[in-house]
Amino acid sequence: MKVLILAGGFATRLRPLSCTRPKILFPMVNKPLLQWTLERLARNGFKEAILAVNHQTEILIEQSRIPKHGMKITYSRDPFKKPLGTGGPVKKAERLIGHDEPFLVLNGDIFADVDYTDILKIHEEKDAVATIALHRVEDPSRYGVAELTKENRITRFIEKPPKEAAPTNRINAGVYALNPEIFNYIPEKRKVSMEREVFPKLVEEGKLYGYVSEGLWMDIGESEDYLEANEALLDLYVNQQKRKVTGKEQVKNPVALDKGVSVGEESVIGPYAILGRNASVGSHVHIRNSILFPGTVISDFSQIRGAIIGEDAFIGKGVKIREGCVLGDGVRINDNVSLAKGVSVCPAKEVSESVLTSKCIIK
Ligand code: GTP
Repeated sequence: MKVLILAGGFATRLRPLSCTRPKILFPMVNKPLLQWTLERLARNGFKEAILAVNHQTEILIEQSRIPKHGMKITYSRDPFKKPLGTGGPVKKAERLIGHDEPFLVLNGDIFADVDYTDILKIHEEKDAVATIALHRVEDPSRYGVAELTKENRITRFIEKPPKEAAPTNRINAGVYALNPEIFNYIPEKRKVSMEREVFPKLVEEGKLYGYVSEGLWMDIGESEDYLEANEALLDLYVNQQKRKVTGKEQVKNPVALDKGVSVGEESVIGPYAILGRNASVGSHVHIRNSILFPGTVISDFSQIRGAIIGEDAFIGKGVKIREGCVLGDGVRINDNVSLAKGVSVCPAKEVSESVLTSKCIIK
């Protein structure tokens, strides 16, 4: 059984952190999202995954050296500087996937515990061309929404409807079972939206089905989603054990401290703090509801609340960073600077004065 993972998007909504890494390599509680996905596939008996990527993403995935859990990884590349969208990469991988049996497509940017065996079973029973895993959410307006018959045939598929106009709260969970027949529905060599072009055509022909999935589902499309998804995973997966670092720091669970993390005296870490590999925290620091990527340095007397701090960033002494702040890789925040809520800072920028309103610092 083949599985194609879509991983070549530009993740524009996750800037500035996605300026330097693809979404599929964003750490989820200190482990890249792709690693979680490969583990899940391997557990379910998959032996090979095809990654639909762009040139840059392929290089970064290879450099990341994440464990492959015995899976063979094959790359299917979008043409240089010509992104193919969410449908084009499926057509592009036609030869790699073959025409022998149904296959799975996963959006690489979601964390979804979908029962792969079950969705394939339903897909074959219904003799569908495509079966979409559907997940229930509070606010469907940011997603593709499906309306279903009792037999689970999708009668309408509406991409990002206004909240009042959404016919149901069942949304496209980004996991599809597809028949090789799907290749006839996707034009070649151009950008194609699966959601806006291919699915509506299948609805018209009565060949699109839904599979209601009740498992854990998290999208990391925007930085708020990303933070929330990490907090939910912390609650679920991390042993809430008290970890000694120096002895005089205070750890408020749940927290996740990766290898090589150091924390100074009288600092309070957590609740909901995720510190990446070799993050170094000074004394009298407070960090809560935040993610620190690997190699981050937080100097004495700083406070970080509800923020995401990119790899190798340096935070000076007495700095205050508020909710919704997102700092790119290699950012430097000098001593005593305060960042208001919602400030984002592009990679490698230096900030020497406080920023009092929500904005993006690009120079
Ligand atoms: P935004 O720019 O923030 O919307 O992000 P995105 O384009 O990466 O995400 P979107 O939700 O549109 O994409 C869903 C999935 O398809 C993600 O796993 C993307 O990596 C993938 N994807 C999107 N566009 C392309 C593309 O042009 N080529 C390939 N190979 N994958 C894509």
